Amino acid sequence: MSEFDLVIIGGGPGGYVCGIRAAQLGLKTAIIEKRPTMGGTCVNVGCIPSKALLDSSHKYHDAQHGLQDHGIDVGKVKLDLKKLMSRKVNVVKELTDGLDFLMKKNKITVLRGHGRFVGKDSNGIDLEVEGEKKEKVRAKNVVIATGSAIIELPNMKPDGKHIITSDEAIALDQVPDHLIIIGAGVIGLELGSVWHRLGARVTIVELLPGILMSMDRQMREQAQRILTKQGLEFLFEHKVTEAKVKGKEVVVTLEGKDQKKSELKGDRLLVAVGRRPYTDDLGLDKVGVKLNQRGRVEVDPHSLATGVPGIYAIGDVIEGAMLAHRAEDEGVMVAENLAGKKGHVNYEAVPWIVYTWPEIAWVGRGEEALKEAGIEYRTGKYMFKPNGRAKAMNEPDGQVKFIADKRTDKILGVFIVGPNASELIAEAVIAVEFGGSAEDIARSFHAHPTLAEVMREAAMDVDKRALHG
Ligand code: NAI
Repeated sequence: MSEFDLVIIGGGPGGYVCGIRAAQLGLKTAIIEKRPTMGGTCVNVGCIPSKALLDSSHKYHDAQHGLQDHGIDVGKVKLDLKKLMSRKVNVVKELTDGLDFLMKKNKITVLRGHGRFVGKDSNGIDLEVEGEKKEKVRAKNVVIATGSAIIELPNMKPDGKHIITSDEAIALDQVPDHLIIIGAGVIGLELGSVWHRLGARVTIVELLPGILMSMDRQMREQAQRILTKQGLEFLFEHKVTEAKVKGKEVVVTLEGKDQKKSELKGDRLLVAVGRRPYTDDLGLDKVGVKLNQRGRVEVDPHSLATGVPGIYAIGDVIEGAMLAHRAEDEGVMVAENLAGKKGHVNYEAVPWIVYTWPEIAWVGRGEEALKEAGIEYRTGKYMFKPNGRAKAMNEPDGQVKFIADKRTDKILGVFIVGPNASELIAEAVIAVEFGGSAEDIARSFHAHPTLAEVMREAAMDVDKRALHG
């Protein structure tokens, strides 16, 4: 039986990053992974393929609708969906190949198969890996990094053809005529954008009164207006109660908040109502690891230790935002603590990004959350429209909003709806990590002409001294 200092169950961004850091620090490390490739949901069927599709569909849409304004006439634009999809497959393959290389480089043992706990004693934890053959391993420490699985709704079981999940929605071989999406969350908005740009009518049905309800209200309403103007159709405060496939059609039954029923017909229905922690057949009972009421592995919020000595959990399987970068940082922290260092994760500085266009990104708390917490603040805003670089790019939509403590000026939240928001937010994340103030951003050079100047002007506007406002 092989023995390791650390065995990680799950080779997604949380697990493989934890493995690399542990190996760097000298721990004998193994990762159990049941997929044939490393990278988990994010690299294989989530973040990465969806971004490849978002970039391709953005170019297609731009070629049709954006280039004329620049004086470029490309004639009739043709979509080669097969090629677009095969590019996406290649992007994923190059990255998963890269991960195999990193595993070898760091001398991490990858055990292929389903991992589960079988028992423990005072010297270690026993696991089995069920792959082509059954294998037993023993570990001094184990990190559960098994991630999450798609939530399925009872009256609309995915059939993989007409009623689909994000797994199929990133691999359709035809542009739908009318794609209905349940859920105006991150997946609904991103994949809705992809297929809308490629020519589908897209209707998004959402239980709540708006998109991205945890975000600052003014900024999410602005994003919603822009997406609606682009042609995405939203039906808020509607619940999908049933979906039936009739021939080539999906008939969706909706219930409004007045309890009135109505029907919507489309050729595909994407169910994107969230993900659940994935703990199926893990043998948690064999070692005494507990789940909370929401089915997430219970951990100490600082050390991410379960109640069982030597067993930790990170990422989607524990409470918190289901984000790859959060899982990565938690993996690094646990590995560093195991190696005797002082790892840390600053949850106040976790960025959120939605890769629509314009992009939506934020870090920290919005006005509503701060009011609820009784914290006094000042806000500063600046639009992209008057910015020189945004004008040159013909990207006028959106705004940046800084929220800073009224007394100390410490940055409490930064919200961006705009071009390249996914990259611009990095500056705000670093400022929050360093406990920076709006004045710190306002007094730092921002090269001209850049979109980043919008960040600086918004930070200046906290003190009502934007230069170009
Ligand atoms: P989500 O939790 O973001 O959104 C699901 C939405 O569905 C919610 O707004 C909810 O109110 C709505 N909903 C639930 N039941 C409904 C019903 N019966 N009828 C109508 N609406 C209903 O979940 P989503 O979009 O599936 O994403 C899953 C996870 O993956 C999220 O936790 C997200 O953080 C992560 N993710 C992150 C991305 C990013 O960071 N760019 C990209 C894609 C996913």
